[in-house]
Amino acid sequence: MERDDILCTCMDITKGEVEDAIKEKKLTTVEQVQDETEAGTVCGSCVDDIYLLLEEINGE
Ligand code: FES
Repeated sequence: MERDDILCTCMDITKGEVEDAIKEKKLTTVEQVQDETEAGTVCGSCVDDIYLLLEEINGE
């Protein structure tokens, strides 16, 4: 998945937008990402992708 790819189709939010929010605001949970970006707040099908992205950025 590239930065310009849509991660959350419901809210039209790209992977890059979520990635930046996680890094800038030091988010660690899916709930925090939902509050900050609104990604994952509608159908929930992108929640797994948000979780994986959190893991990828925050490591371990
Ligand atoms: S695709 Fe993200 S909430 Fe539906």
